[in-house]
Amino acid sequence: MASFLSRAVALYVICLYLSEFLIVAAVREGNAKFLSNLKSKVRTPLTFDHSTVNLKMKRNPTQTTGFEPGDLAQAFHVKTLDGEFIYPLPSDTNSSVVIHAFTNKSGFLECLWTSEASLSDLVDYLPATAQVLFLSLDDSAARDALWMREQVHSVAARRRKEVLSRLHFSPVPVYALGNWIPGVLYSWGCNGHNYGLAQVLFSSPEWAISVVAKRLDARYDWLFGHWSQGPYRLADAGNGCEPSPSVAGAVAWISEDGCSFFKKVKSMADSKAAGVLVYALPGNPIKDMNCQEDECYTQLSIPAAMTHFDAGVLRALLAGKPVNVSFQITPSPSFFFGIDQKGALSEMGWFLYPSFRFVAWQAQWFDFHRGLQEHVSKPATVVSVFDHLQMQGEDGAQAVVDLPPDVLEYDVLELEAALTCPGRQDETCAHWDHTVQLFVCCQQFSPYCNMELGRWITAFRRGTGHWVTDVSPLIPLLNHERCAFTMKTVPWAMPWVTSLNLRFSQSNHTGNYSETLHPFNLILLYNGGKFDKDYNTRYKEIQFKVPASTKKVELYAVISGHGSDEYGCCEFCVTSHHFVVNRKFNNSLVFDTAGTALGCTLRVVEGAVPNEHGTWLYGRGGWCDGQQVNPWRTDITSQVHIGESSSIIYFGLFDGRDPNPQKEPGYIIMYSYLVFYK
Ligand SMILES: *[C@@H]1O[C@H](CO)[C@@H](O)[C@H](O)[C@H]1NC(C)=O
Ligand SMILES: *[C@@H]1O[C@H](CO)[C@@H](O)[C@H](O)[C@H]1NC(C)=O
Ligand SMILES: *[C@@H]1O[C@H](CO)[C@@H](O)[C@H](O)[C@H]1NC(C)=O
Ligand SMILES: *[C@@H]1O[C@H](CO)[C@@H](O)[C@H](O)[C@H]1NC(C)=O
Ligand SMILES: *[C@@H]1O[C@H](CO)[C@@H](O)[C@H](O)[C@H]1NC(C)=O
Ligand SMILES: *[C@@H]1O[C@H](CO)[C@@H](O)[C@H](O)[C@H]1NC(C)=O
Repeated sequence: MASFLSRAVALYVICLYLSEFLIVAAVREGNAKFLSNLKSKVRTPLTFDHSTVNLKMKRNPTQTTGFEPGDLAQAFHVKTLDGEFIYPLPSDTNSSVVIHAFTNKSGFLECLWTSEASLSDLVDYLPATAQVLFLSLDDSAARDALWMREQVHSVAARRRKEVLSRLHFSPVPVYALGNWIPGVLYSWGCNGHNYGLAQVLFSSPEWAISVVAKRLDARYDWLFGHWSQGPYRLADAGNGCEPSPSVAGAVAWISEDGCSFFKKVKSMADSKAAGVLVYALPGNPIKDMNCQEDECYTQLSIPAAMTHFDAGVLRALLAGKPVNVSFQITPSPSFFFGIDQKGALSEMGWFLYPSFRFVAWQAQWFDFHRGLQEHVSKPATVVSVFDHLQMQGEDGAQAVVDLPPDVLEYDVLELEAALTCPGRQDETCAHWDHTVQLFVCCQQFSPYCNMELGRWITAFRRGTGHWVTDVSPLIPLLNHERCAFTMKTVPWAMPWVTSLNLRFSQSNHTGNYSETLHPFNLILLYNGGKFDKDYNTRYKEIQFKVPASTKKVELYAVISGHGSDEYGCCEFCVTSHHFVVNRKFNNSLVFDTAGTALGCTLRVVEGAVPNEHGTWLYGRGGWCDGQQVNPWRTDITSQVHIGESSSIIYFGLFDGRDPNPQKEPGYIIMYSYLVFYK
């Protein structure tokens, strides 16, 4: 226990440090307009100097103490309200397991369990392949189990009853389980945002001891302010719907009724309050404070939290006694972990706000990963490029690799990539969602040398990213039996541990292999660049001749938008990309989910890592955190003249027009090719 506590305290310091990085954006569902003043991230395209290829092999340090993510779950059984939960599950259920330990000492969990939206998310979105075991950390476990079941049942009764058979409620408190589960919960404590017990401390000279109450901070992607430890003076301001000069420099103590949370925080910010403490009216639960619709476009920069009503505090304030507040986070056991379909213990990541949707997203990802594991177990000619190699700094990760002698015989090339962290827990993972690019050079003086073979975005502080990307059209880049590979992210990023396999295979769709088309030649088209008013003037029409033997011509482009001008371009604005062939055929790619509130959550089923730090949920310009940037492929055979000359020109638009930012233009990273098949 002592070592858990000291570790948890150290992690708490990391958690505090992290909050400095939380510069985020407010996005409203379905709306691509975007607030200015977004993240101050800098992502620049990378260049590659081939002269310094050197191999370095550093293995993941293997920690064997205790339970670590990736270890296999042991068998267990736990008494439940309906009987017993037995693991391993019967083999035909094919399910992942999520284990949740509730405690009413957490304002976050109180809200998770009382918010109708959160409970509906559990009922509506939990995949059919997930079982959830609910536990309580407290003495009141028997009562908590009945209460949790009642909370879910009352919502499920009006919705999807089917889910109930997969939810299991145990009346046995965690400390009495007598199995290994508490060991995981205790040793994986405070792994991030909304873990640990966020508290507010009230003190007054006349009280012998301070009053400690749980709190829930307003969504960090809404309010930019952060609490310091304090103490702050507390000042009563009624319901806070009107400005109140008495709160200047103090934390305003206001009731939840009368107007929106936004109105309260705004009027208190206008009154120069240092922060806002909203109390739930007696009998009401703590709520998730957020802005609604147009309110979200007004930036507020003081912190706010919700807590319970405390009669003693109000009495003291009304009697004119000084009351101070300070803010603390007491480390706690972890509230969630998962067991994937293969039995591996798994972290559940960060819950950005109190909603069971985060459980559903993690379970969706377990399904994705199971499918991926099945896919990569199929036969292929596999070439290992990086095997747990550290990628960091200007050099990134580099390797020189021998390819199979007959690569042009294959018509399928997949990149199987994984990014893990220096340690096994997500807390050891690098911050931010940076671009990772893979370059290949097989013949130093070939025009194909140092072209991009793949692109990914790092998963902000999560080490589970694992992806398969079909890059078959780029097989002609591998034009020699020995090739140098370089994988890089920004040189200032903390290290990632990269693994990369090339998977060569034959598609043989028709069952008649001789009908399969093979890419045999490539033309490099355009690269991206600074997305400013001159963006499109930099592109010139390209004339090209299609070799007479060509059976198919494909346009292949990997495009991603980054940076942040006053419109949020190009990460959070809707850009469109057009390749016009023979001045007639308009091939367009539009990033229409960029800037939407949940755009990237829709990609979890395709492998976007869920529950990262930061704002991984928001839709982005052609990419999501923790996922490959998908190649865009269009068959343009019917648009070109086989054996003769044709032309192509590219342009990129913002909102259907040439970009014209007034400040800090964003940029587009693009590699685009014409691919000829025979
Ligand atoms: C949780 O705590 C709040 C007050 O802190 C209380 O009102 C509520 O009844 C508790 N819920 C449960 C299930 O114990
Ligand atoms: C209350 O907080 C103020 C600062 O806001 C501080 O000067 C004062 O010493 C505090 N009083 C107590 C009893 O902590
Ligand atoms: C198991 O789940 C996968 C999807 O994750 C599905 O494709 C497969 O058919 C399932 N198998 C059984 C036996 O239900
Ligand atoms: C293509 O598929 C057919 C039918 O499934 C199989 O007999 C043949 O061996 C396959 N050829 C190759 C080259 O994989
Ligand atoms: C396979 O396709 C080729 C080319 O279309 C054709 O010549 C050949 O007869 C086909 N073989 C079979 C077994 O269908
Ligand atoms: C191609 O499509 C875009 C958007 O639909 C449009 O703005 C552009 O004018 C079109 N260009 C041509 C040459 O048709």
